[in-house]
Amino acid sequence: MFRTPSPADPTELTGKRAFVTGGSRGIGAAIVQRLLDGGATVVTTARTATDETPKAATFIQGDISTLAGVLELTAAALDQLGGVDIVVNNAGAARTHLGGISSIPDEEWLDALDLNYLSAIRVTNALLPALREAGAGGAIINISSAAALMPVPPLAHYGAAKAALNAYGKALATELAPAGIRVATLLPGHVITPGADVINQTFADAMDVSLADITAGVPLGRPGDPRDIAEAVAYLASDRAQWVTGVTLTIDGGQLPII
Ligand SMILES: NC(=O)c1ccc[n+]([C@@H]2O[C@H](COP(=O)([O-])OP(=O)(O)OC[C@H]3O[C@@H](n4cnc5c(N)ncnc54)[C@H](OP(=O)(O)O)[C@@H]3O)[C@@H](O)[C@H]2O)c1
Repeated sequence: MFRTPSPADPTELTGKRAFVTGGSRGIGAAIVQRLLDGGATVVTTARTATDETPKAATFIQGDISTLAGVLELTAAALDQLGGVDIVVNNAGAARTHLGGISSIPDEEWLDALDLNYLSAIRVTNALLPALREAGAGGAIINISSAAALMPVPPLAHYGAAKAALNAYGKALATELAPAGIRVATLLPGHVITPGADVINQTFADAMDVSLADITAGVPLGRPGDPRDIAEAVAYLASDRAQWVTGVTLTIDGGQLPII
């Protein structure tokens, strides 16, 4: 079971303005809440708000999978925040294809790239002038996946898009280091969320096992809680991580072998 850590320092992120994609539920909602708990002002976005969406954040409805959608959302976010210091590219999803990699249609590869990879580039490009204007101390955190390092055939398109995100994050960190803007890429393992439940249920049905069986066997004894990822985001967004950039950090309870 997730053990709640000591309460966050409510002033650590005071004055910081954060934009988090996909904060309506799951990992994104936990990130939004954790940044709020640290004192940040947060704008988040998704196509639909849910009961999980933190009320203290400003929610802007929109679709992040197209350039037009990103431009609309980021402009609205900047209007609301008046600038930006922290960007968390979290929105992402995958549809499972059990018929072999060649059964994944062309449009599905393009969708996977749009949502899991290009959205992060488009959001970052749109917000970069504001990040640069805010000066040293900014942070961009991309939520990738352990599937980037250990892809499985039914999610080959998703794993490939996340692997591209890892490479992009490293290049971006190098380019933005002189401006004092840091970039980090997080690779969650199995984390229990509404989105992951849908994917895992597909695997469970195909293998005729339970949902719990799919996320069993994590060395640290449990699947991830969205707050496990949110804690790392809060650290990486803060000055505690002021000498950390260009990293890919796997947070998976020990699931991945050494790669
Ligand atoms: N959970 C895991 O085990 C796991 C493991 C590795 C990596 N990840 C990554 O962690 C991130 C969050 O995943 P999660 O498990 O929390 O998923 P989730 O429960 O499905 O939440 C995904 C979030 O992204 C939003 N989103 C999806 N498509 C969107 C679109 N086209 N436009 C705008 N927003 C969109 C969703 O809202 P709407 O659908 O309403 O738009 C929701 O807020 C993803 O990048 C995922 O790839 C998750």
